[in-house]
Amino acid sequence: MKHLGEELDGPLSGGNMNMVYRAGDTVVRDAGPWTPTVHRYLSYLHLAGIDWVPRPIAIMSNPSGEPEQERLSYVPGDVPAYPLPDWVWSDDVIREGAQRLRRLHDASLGFASDGAIWQSPTKIPAEVICHNDFAPHNLAFCDGRIVGAIDFDFCSPGPRLWDIAYFATRTVPLGANPAENAPGMDQARRRVQLILDAYGDDLVIGWDDVVRVSVIRLHDLADLSRQKAEELHKSHLLDEARAYDHDGHYLAALRR
Ligand SMILES: Nc1ncnc2c1ncn2[C@@H]1O[C@H](COP(=O)(O)OP(=O)(O)O)[C@@H](O)[C@H]1O
Ligand SMILES: [Mg+2]
Repeated sequence: MKHLGEELDGPLSGGNMNMVYRAGDTVVRDAGPWTPTVHRYLSYLHLAGIDWVPRPIAIMSNPSGEPEQERLSYVPGDVPAYPLPDWVWSDDVIREGAQRLRRLHDASLGFASDGAIWQSPTKIPAEVICHNDFAPHNLAFCDGRIVGAIDFDFCSPGPRLWDIAYFATRTVPLGANPAENAPGMDQARRRVQLILDAYGDDLVIGWDDVVRVSVIRLHDLADLSRQKAEELHKSHLLDEARAYDHDGHYLAALRR
């Protein structure tokens, strides 16, 4: 396959929003108005010593100067796709994921956000730059250990808990119908606590905070899926939206 006169290795599977192509040790992805900000942020992370995220390489714009595609470094490792393999549900994965998330959040401190354009809204308090899709499907693994994180398109300023709660919904997991090979809700409190302990013992949030924000997060994801379904004419995203809302209602009932 050829693109911009260059031989590409073909589409990478796993994502559900973008076309992603690998070209040697780089990837080419769809870009948007937020791409220059995301590239500046990825460079900032590298300066802060986070070398396990994609390195920004280039932005390809159309004649009007609008970003159309981006090139990033390929992060080595395997990114699991759905249905997630058994080993993703180990306690070690949630512990290591929470530790990496903490490092990412801490490294974002001081990022200059004047003039920034983000794809996702900013949420208060804007404590850190949230990844907004930090979950196994955006983590690179080697022998069951996390070695990298990808897909920073949705990042934007927000509270640490916004990412922690989302990570919990995906990895504990928190929801009405966990995958067949996933731990059941009987393990949820214990696994949420593993996340909180691994993120850091200075954190003053608990189970109820995680569930409260997870409810909000799930309905927010449902809205996003409905919006994308309309934009991209993909009806399966409407089913996804219904599932998010269903999980949100289930967790809200659990809190009561
Ligand atoms: N920088 C990267 N390094 C390694 N693999 C990548 C990288 N970017 C994307 N991929 C691969 O492409 C797939 C889809 O990319 P992703 O950025 O997650 O897009 P989407 O927004 O569609 O989820 C990922 O699951 C992963 O396998
Ligand atoms: Mg992805």
